Formats: sequence, structure tokens, C-alpha cells
Amino acid sequence: MWRILVIHGPNLNLLGVREKNVYGDTPFAAINEQIRSGAEKMGIYVEIFQSNHEGEIIDRIHAALGKFDGLIINPGAYTHYSVAIRDAVAAVDIPTIEVHLSNVSSREDFRKESVIAPVCLGQISGLGPISYLLGLSGIVMHLEASKCQKSN
Ligand code: DQA
Repeated sequence: MWRILVIHGPNLNLLGVREKNVYGDTPFAAINEQIRSGAEKMGIYVEIFQSNHEGEIIDRIHAALGKFDGLIINPGAYTHYSVAIRDAVAAVDIPTIEVHLSNVSSREDFRKESVIAPVCLGQISGLGPISYLLGLSGIVMHLEASKCQKSN
């Protein structure tokens, strides 16, 4: 069974309350429920972690080494400037997909750049909570494909 860690960065605990016109009105707890039920349907083990603190996110990424096969991360505003989170993702070398609820490409210029996406497999942005579910299925497809390649 694949083991996937989902990390939510700062302010995402306020989903359903914060800027509903941008992030929608689905509460944070309901998004996590969707992630859990999606993972169950896909037959994978999922853990979910949220923090408003850069160092805690970095510690959680380090702790994933040897314990998780894939990471899904919505780094929130850290997306745009945390070289430290980028370095943590690169250091553990666990396949990672960056996800965003909003379409960061259609927003302010400072949101168009991600310093983390270049060390990820890819980025999924703009589909609301569906971004997380696409991230989960994408990581599983990637892991399955790499397993097949290794056994061939
Ligand atoms: C976000 C986009 C970021 O620019 C912003 O700072 C967030 C949420 C998203 O999911 O759309 O906090 O990561």
C-alpha cells in the first residue's frame, strides 16, 4: 500500500472562512475528509498535516524520509519564497506534487512564481479541493509507473 503525506501550509486551516471568493466555501475539515475518502477509494494510506510555521513543515518533510512514498504539498504563501521548504523537498528526494486551490497563474504577479515547483514532479492549480484529489491520483500513477519500470 502506497503511503502518502499531504501537507497544508499557512492559513489553509482557515479554508471555508478566508477569502471565500478565491478559495471557495468548503471548510478545511471537509477538504481533509475528501482527501481521506479519495485515498480510501484509491487503496492508499494517507496522513494529513497542517502548519502555519515554516520550520514545522520542514521537520515534517524530513520525518517523511523512509516513511512515505510520496508527498502532496500546498505550501500556501511559502510557495512563493521559501527556499528552505524547496531545499527540504529536494533533500528527501520523495516524489512530490505541489497543489493549489486557486489558479496561481491568473492572480497577482508574485503568485505566478513558485520556488518549490521546480523540485516537484509537477504542479496542479486552480481546481479547488479537486486539486488535492488530482495530486493524490497523479502521485499514485507516478509511483505505479516507476515500480513497473524498475521491475522491467
Ligand atoms: C494557495 C495560493 C497561495 O498563493 C496563497 O498564499 C495560499 C493558498 C492556494 O491553494 O491557492 O495561501 O496556495
